[in-house]
This record gives sequence, C-alpha cells and structure tokens, in this order.
Amino acid sequence: MVLNDTETETEQVSHAAEAAPDFENPETRLRINPETYLKFEDGEMVTMQHLLANASVRIKYDIMLILYPMVNWVTVAELCEGWPPEDQAKIKEHLAMMYRAKLVVTDESEIATASQSGLPKRLGDNITINIENHVHMLQDTVRMASYQRAIQNQVNDGDVVLDLGAGTGILSFFAARAGASRVYAIEKRPDIVNLSTQLAIDNNLQDVVVNIESSSQSLDATDLDPRPTVMVSEIIGNAVLDEHIIEFTLDARDRLLAPGATLIPFALDLLAVPFYSGQVINMTQDVAELEAMYGFNFDLIKTVLDQKPRMQLREFNPDNALLMGKPIEVINLDFRTLTESHFETHFEVDPLEDGFIDSYCLYFRVHLDEQTILTNSPWAPKTHWTQVIYAFPNRRAVKVGEPLTVTLKYDGSFHMWYPDEWETATPASEQTDQDHQDD
Ligand SMILES: C[S@@+](CC[C@H](N)C(=O)[O-])C[C@H]1O[C@@H](n2cnc3c(N)ncnc32)[C@H](O)[C@@H]1O
Repeated sequence: MVLNDTETETEQVSHAAEAAPDFENPETRLRINPETYLKFEDGEMVTMQHLLANASVRIKYDIMLILYPMVNWVTVAELCEGWPPEDQAKIKEHLAMMYRAKLVVTDESEIATASQSGLPKRLGDNITINIENHVHMLQDTVRMASYQRAIQNQVNDGDVVLDLGAGTGILSFFAARAGASRVYAIEKRPDIVNLSTQLAIDNNLQDVVVNIESSSQSLDATDLDPRPTVMVSEIIGNAVLDEHIIEFTLDARDRLLAPGATLIPFALDLLAVPFYSGQVINMTQDVAELEAMYGFNFDLIKTVLDQKPRMQLREFNPDNALLMGKPIEVINLDFRTLTESHFETHFEVDPLEDGFIDSYCLYFRVHLDEQTILTNSPWAPKTHWTQVIYAFPNRRAVKVGEPLTVTLKYDGSFHMWYPDEWETATPASEQTDQDHQDD
C-alpha cells in the first residue's frame, strides 16, 4: 500500500502546521476517512469505504486490522487501551501519519474537505481518480473520432449543450469547438470535476464550459438556464448498460433538456452471437467441498449456479470460436421515443449446424447521429470496450431448422435464460465484478 507516496516533505510540514490534532490527548476523537483513496503497489486505487466493504480487496492486500476499530468514531484512549506503553506510542505516531495522509479525520467536516479536495496544487499528488481509465478512453481513437464527428455534425453555433458524465470534459471541449455558446459539463465525481474545470481554463474555454459537480439525477431544470438543446453523453459501460445509459438518458431528456433536443447518442442496439466454447462451467463440486468444510447444506447455491449464466468481460475472437448462429439484433432502443428504461425481450437463434450452444457474445451498436455508429462488435476495429460473454452452465443441444428462443431481461442488471427451461422461475441477477465508478 502506498500512502501519499508523492507527498513532499515541505507539504507534510505545512499540513502538520495547519491544524495537527493532539494525538497525545486521550480524548481526541478520530475515525477513518471513507472518502480517501488508497493506492496499492500494483496501481489499483480504492476508497477506504470500498476497502472496508469488500473483504476480497482487504485479503488481497493484507490490510492491517488496526483500521477496523476506527470505522466509527473512537478516542485515542480507546485505541490504546490494553497495549503496552511502547506500542501506545507507536499507535499515536501512526495516527499522526495517517492523519497527514488523510486516512483518518478528527472532525466530520474533514471528510467532505478531503473528498472535494480532488487534485491539489500539484497534479499527481493525492490523485483520487483513476486517471488511467480516462487516458485509455482518450486513446480509443474509434470512440474519439466517432464522438468528435457526431458533435461536429450536430452542434450548431449558439447551441446549449449538456455533457452528461463529462469526465475530463473532452466532449464538452468538442462541443465548444463546434460552436456551442454554453456547455454544461455535468460530472458526479468531485475529483474529476476539479481536473476538468482546470483543463477548461487551461484551454481557454472557461467562458463556454460550465463545470457542475452533480449527478444528472440530482440536477434540477432550473440549474440549467438556458435549457440545453443538445445532449451528449458517453456512459456506455463495460457491460453496455451497467453505467445506466438508458435510465440517465431518459431522465435527463424528460427533465433537463429543451423539448426536441438532439441526443448524442440517440439510439442503442444490442446484438448477440451464439457460440459453442466447449468449456462447461460446473461449480457444483466447489460448492460440495464448501458444504463438507462448513457442514451446511448449500443445495440452493448449487441450483442457482446450475441455472444462471456467468457474465465475463473479455475480448471475443470470432475466428477462434465455433459460431452457432449469425449475429442477432436483440433489441433496438430509440432514446428519443423510449419510455421504459427496463425491458424483457426474446430473441431467436437459428442454428447454423447441428451441435451445441453454451455461450453468447453480446455487443452494442450506438447511434451517435444518423451517420455515425460506434460499436464494440468483434468484427469491427477494436475499441477500449471488450465484449460481454454470457456462458451458460450447461450446453444446449440444437438442430438446424429448430430455432431456439432466448430471453434477455434488463432491470438495472442483465438476466438471460431459456424460457422453455425456466418459464416461471425468477432468474438470478448477474453483475459484473468490474467497478465502473472508478472511471
Ligand atoms: C465513461 S466516462 C466518459 C467521460 C467523458 N465524457 C469522455 O467521453 O471521456 C463516464 C463519466 O460519467 C460520469 N457519470 C456517470 N453517470 C453520471 C451521472 N448520472 N451524472 C453525472 N456523471 C455521471 C462518470 O463518473 C464518468 O466520469
């Protein structure tokens, strides 16, 4: 774990001089700052909140148990209780160090200050965003060229633009360059808002781009005057809908935009390709071992595992796969007219040959404007998005001429099943392991 490894001595001194709490005073109260990010040697960054809520992360990095008593407010006396004097001295020393690193706070107000401090004087210090992800997105030339082109096509002189999920602000900057008179750059993460605000100034766009730290859902139409005539957003998740593009787009369209405003993107299609991997995922044996280990009956877990497909985010190479059907358009969502953000739909697979199907590759096609389509199709030029692979626990025998019906449901997360096998049961929810908030 690296605690503010870039902090300079001078800054440490000035921090300490600002208002160093007295950790020699047994009554001094403190707690972990849930908003502080930790950076590990392998580059991964997580908030304390995330760390404390996720045992797997704590195990992975062998996190010190000393943190746990400080999840809630605790006094120095309580922390030191039961330790020999020399250890008590060490604990106090550590507390001072952790305070300087913003790992602990001694007042509620410091939590907010830390979370909003974002990028301090020197970029690179205390970086609390996963800036690498944003760099990868900027490096994705397919994505960038598509958005740049659509914005250039759709934004006219004098347009007011809402950039939903502005990140570094790049789409706002394109919109400003295309002639927008104002761009509201809405971003829910305070740290990156600080970065994009400074970037707008550095690029002399501060008179056009208005950075707003807020989630789009918390915004009120009165916050945006004049009302936006164009909305641009790139909240396409690694698992396509997991950044809630449908929900946020419809909400902004209905509450925040001028009537008839242009949407970039205005539509999204989901496609699926069935294939046979031959890799049966069977975790029944693993669960049986757990039953033996703990002495409990986990039959229900076995049943769920046996029924639910597993979702993986990985690159799909169609040349190395046994494709069992042509790409199928599962659903077309037109954001201009769509009213429901959740859906359940069926699609039919026409097997190309007799054999088996055990997996589906899902990908998207996003219509930025009538001329510009952005896709992570495995047949198209690569983007930073991989494909989404749904692997069923059991293979399904199929025959040419006997179409197979598959159901796909989205209710905030994806579910997929064969209705003839599972008509009445409620499918288990499937979520990606990947955390998108760390964009
Ligand atoms: C995939 S990134 C794209 C960033 C930038 N627009 C770009 O194209 O490089 C999505 C960004 O949207 C932000 N975001 C997602 N949902 C949001 C919402 N409802 N309101 C505000 N920001 C949101 C995330 O924090 C993230 O920074």
